[in-house]
Amino acid sequence: MTILNKVISGEKITPPPIWLMRQAGRYLPEYRKVRSESGSFLNLCYSPKLASEVTLQPIDRFDFDAAIIFADILLIVENLGFNLHFNEKKGPVIENCLINQKQIIKYQKIKNSPLLKIGETVSLTRKKLEKNKSLIGFCGAPWTVATYIINGGTTTSYEKCIQWAHDNYEYFMEMINLLVEISSEYLIMQIEAGADIIKIFDTWSGVLNENDFNDWVIIPTHKIVQNIKTKYPHIKIIGFPKNCGYLYEDYIKKTSVDAVAVDPDLDMLYCKNTLQKLTVIQGNISPEVLRIGGDTMKKDIIKTLDTFGDYSFIMGLGHGVLKDTPVNNVLEFVDIVRKYKRI
Ligand code: CP3
Repeated sequence: MTILNKVISGEKITPPPIWLMRQAGRYLPEYRKVRSESGSFLNLCYSPKLASEVTLQPIDRFDFDAAIIFADILLIVENLGFNLHFNEKKGPVIENCLINQKQIIKYQKIKNSPLLKIGETVSLTRKKLEKNKSLIGFCGAPWTVATYIINGGTTTSYEKCIQWAHDNYEYFMEMINLLVEISSEYLIMQIEAGADIIKIFDTWSGVLNENDFNDWVIIPTHKIVQNIKTKYPHIKIIGFPKNCGYLYEDYIKKTSVDAVAVDPDLDMLYCKNTLQKLTVIQGNISPEVLRIGGDTMKKDIIKTLDTFGDYSFIMGLGHGVLKDTPVNNVLEFVDIVRKYKRI
């Protein structure tokens, strides 16, 4: 069993395993090289050899305990008939913003689509990755992916998005249900190609009230978890309902995920006294603190390890590595964690 799987199964390991969200990315010169040769971010995602190479770059450099497949949560929108591209300045752009004009949703099975390339990246990477390291497959949670589809890219007003979802409820729920189906299919494909842990990213879950959170975050996520566990009960699933505050408790109890990633805004003692009693947590150094480095980072790491070390814990960030993070800070981060001893 990999170290990460042991911890998610409830084993306490000191020092804890480490991996970071966006550990492969623009802060690494070797990533920037492959990325510029690939022509575009999407080309890179759909080139299994190159995507596998960048997936492994942070493992070679920092010896993290897990690799996360290099891809993006938004690739899947093309299977529902929406065109996606990435703009250097604006980030993701989905043509046909639904707020302006509704579009009939199509449904293209994973097995007939370019997403099969991601499966090839998974199997190529699994062959090269050490046996005791995990390979994390992932998807975006339906609500978060839907916000990009509704708005045609990163949303500037979530209120508008939520209002649109209520005003077009039937259409919206059809989209959420299709996202549940296709995401489950996609994750099962990644598992069959060699992913041994799954992470579900719900970056925008924190903008919803309790009712919408239940209907659009908890219920769809629970369905995805059930679809996976019915087929592969041993596969561990990490949920990331970012910024949802005290709703983390409901999320843990009702979705049946095996672990949650927590964001840096969450109170540490709440995480320790409440969430760690319910599940395994991963977190939650702020990406800004990693970028600053030095004593600020060291203090935060030690405090985090002291606080969460009584239970099984995964060390990481509350969100993705920022692109101007010095590589040396990441080296130091890993070094501090690996040298940590519990008194
Ligand atoms: O974590 C990893 O190392 C694995 C790969 C990964 C990427 N995106 C690569 C990426 C993962 C797991 C994601 C998830 C993702 N993508 C999320 C959920 C997590 C989060 O960050 O909140 C979201 C919301 C997206 C959508 C997305 N992708 C946005 C908004 C952007 C533009 C902003 C940015 O950082 O550039 C992307 C682009 C993206 N996804 C990049 C990478 C490495 C940068 C693209 C580049 O190299 O040009």
